[in-house]
Amino acid sequence: MTGDSGHQRREEGSAAASVRARARAGAGAHPGLLWLRGGGRAMEACCETRKTSAHDGDRLTTTGIGDLSARYLMHTYSRAMIAPVRGSGVRVWDADGKEYLDFLGGIAVCGLGHCHPAVVAAVKKQAETLLHCSNLYLIEGQALLAKALLDGSPFGKAFFCNSGAEANEAAIKLARKYARMRHEDGRYEIVTALGSFHGRTLATVTATGQPKYQKGFEPLPTGFRYVPFNDVAALEKAVSDVTAAVLLEPVQGEGGVHVADEAYLGRARQLCDERGALLILDEVQTGMGRTGRMFAFEHFAIEPDAVTLAKALGGGVPIGAILARDEAAQAFTPGTHASTFGGNPLACAAALAVVETIRAEGLVERAAEMGRYLAGMLGALAGRFPQVAEIRGKGLMLGMEFGECEGDARGPAAPARDVAAACLGRGLLVNAVSDTTLRFLPPLVVGRADIDEAVSILEKAMGVMFG
Ligand SMILES: Cc1ncc(COP(=O)(O)O)c(C=O)c1O
Repeated sequence: MTGDSGHQRREEGSAAASVRARARAGAGAHPGLLWLRGGGRAMEACCETRKTSAHDGDRLTTTGIGDLSARYLMHTYSRAMIAPVRGSGVRVWDADGKEYLDFLGGIAVCGLGHCHPAVVAAVKKQAETLLHCSNLYLIEGQALLAKALLDGSPFGKAFFCNSGAEANEAAIKLARKYARMRHEDGRYEIVTALGSFHGRTLATVTATGQPKYQKGFEPLPTGFRYVPFNDVAALEKAVSDVTAAVLLEPVQGEGGVHVADEAYLGRARQLCDERGALLILDEVQTGMGRTGRMFAFEHFAIEPDAVTLAKALGGGVPIGAILARDEAAQAFTPGTHASTFGGNPLACAAALAVVETIRAEGLVERAAEMGRYLAGMLGALAGRFPQVAEIRGKGLMLGMEFGECEGDARGPAAPARDVAAACLGRGLLVNAVSDTTLRFLPPLVVGRADIDEAVSILEKAMGVMFG
């Protein structure tokens, strides 16, 4: 099976190479259009190419990439028809050479911006040294990264994985194991918030308090209970003798950029202490300086038992982590949890460069400062457009909430999505987390001039939309 598909891929590869060569030579009825053939079967994908610089050779155009994607990729994403192929700082360029100001940053992944020289250098160096090493052996970069993340934090130990979902999966497992170790009473329940987002594995999509992501995947794992976000009374009712952990985002990201109340997190801490449950904060989106503190929990007068990280941690290289207090971390013993790729040398080299650069360049403070500036600019825009109901968030994680636009004949049904699309057309990447919420997650290296430019594009897009 594997051999067959490998063989087929090679055939397709060589067929593609030969049609590329023909296209380069200008042969065929449609110059610049590639028709891929594989395994003797004509494929529908029509791959348009364009000449780029000499060393790049032919590169697929946006249309070509779109056609191939539609033909060969599972349709799990509603993708915009742009194909970024190069990035630097807060800008990306698409396959057709168009420039964009990136205020989405790979959904909070590109904290250092695109292709930060420190990350690129670290990845290059590590790639030439040792790409992978099993966790059966010691991994220098993993130990150094753990030290860099943990020193000065309330946490004592790290476990590395490859994504946010995996980090939360590890956290859920750790909470259950810790409950067994500490209480020996079989408690297992994880309390999470409605509107939360914790990932797409079966356990983390169940932890995610949004039924739309769970639909069709039933039966879901048992042991999860949901409470309205920021509702202290509901949390008090939900946390009980069977609670192993409370898992919350300090700022809900995918749920619409909602900041946790100080009193809410404070009460969550108290309840967990009273019941001997773990308080775990999902900092997959908020971590690594995004909110103007290294970890978002630092805005609050509490310390969690564990945080989960991913997204910005690797500067674009996939890596996730759970950092836990020593006592909780003891629950993971040899053989209880593992990941082949987790904490691999390449990912750790990138992440170490990220952590060191955030500190060396003062990017946490910069995120706080630029976040204030962006919030101020968006607030001023809100003053000019009555359709904007609220600007909310922390640091460089901001949301613009549109009101109902009721009674306004010009008001679109899904203003946030329409505004995001209008910005895209004008060269600004932002995203709508709902019909009514536009989200801004620019890289932490963003400057005032970039913010001015982005807000000016946004203003034009909103002007067209709202008149
Ligand atoms: C808060 C939070 N947790 C977990 C995840 C899942 O991360 P990943 O997509 O890396 O699995 C996300 C992704 O958006 C997230 O925002």
